[in-house]
Amino acid sequence: MKIINLTPEYEHLYFCCLEDWSDDIKEAGNHKELWYEKHKDKGIRVKLAINDEGVVGGMIQYLPVEHSFVIGTDLYLILCIWVHGHKKGCGNFQKKGMGTALLEAAENDVKELGSSGIVSWGIGLPFFMRASWFKKHGYEQVDKNSMIRLLWKPFSKKAIKPSLMKQLKSPEKIDGKVNISLFKNGWCPAFNMVYERTLRAVNGIEDNIIINTYDSAERNVLNEWGLSDALFLDNKQVRTGPPPSFKKIQKKIYRKVKKLKKVNIQ
Ligand SMILES: CC(C)(COP(=O)(O)OP(=O)(O)OC[C@H]1O[C@@H](n2cnc3c(N)ncnc32)[C@H](O)[C@@H]1OP(=O)(O)O)[C@@H](O)C(=O)NCCC(=O)NCCS
Repeated sequence: MKIINLTPEYEHLYFCCLEDWSDDIKEAGNHKELWYEKHKDKGIRVKLAINDEGVVGGMIQYLPVEHSFVIGTDLYLILCIWVHGHKKGCGNFQKKGMGTALLEAAENDVKELGSSGIVSWGIGLPFFMRASWFKKHGYEQVDKNSMIRLLWKPFSKKAIKPSLMKQLKSPEKIDGKVNISLFKNGWCPAFNMVYERTLRAVNGIEDNIIINTYDSAERNVLNEWGLSDALFLDNKQVRTGPPPSFKKIQKKIYRKVKKLKKVNIQ
């Protein structure tokens, strides 16, 4: 197995998080590609793990924390690490050392770049980006918000602890309409899926809603709202991890519209 930097021939795999077989991922549109094109000059780094047969089984992406949704300076934030774990497509590559190799390669890269440390977000439960996996690799928890943990590994005594951005503002209720607010950063197909599914779900009921979309990869949006990827129906945030199905999102919106107007929606 070897770890390589992303090259143009593998970009299509990176944009779909190695899941070129997945119909769900297709629903995420091309937002990740657009995000990458727009922000790649901000220091985004991507590494891939390739097995001896030349199959890409894992990836890690990280960027200077200043360009991310985490508060910090002179650190790199791991947006995500993913070792393909599904039977479909290229198959299950987990528990073969790829994750560890990717993390170590990223850490060495960040050291060589002269940064004072590396940060990752993680979940306090045993799924997705498990905080416990990072702890096992020497990361220390520095912040927490509900299930989300922020963990870091400083490489210098001068390193300053990062923190999670706090929500600064909530959308408001609007008389006579359901107010839908969609925040999308672009780096994660799972969130991009929620974005696209929500846009599809409001087809045909435009008269009953107001929809505002926000590109949270733009600093001014993050600074104003303190939100990266999120969906709000009026002033209530909808849980979007793992991404709800199209049907589920549609049902939630229709329920709100029905309550509001008592209109007859199928
Ligand atoms: C967390 C993650 C990156 C780890 O990747 P991995 O390649 O499975 O990691 P490793 O193989 O290096 O280590 C995992 C385990 O396998 C064990 N292992 C490592 N090499 C091994 C080998 N050759 N044979 C058997 N076991 C091995 C390790 O001891 C480790 O044990 P643990 O489960 O008790 O921690 C991977 O599980 C993953 O992608 N999870 C999902 C993350 C996710 O959702 N990302 C997207 C977020 S947007």
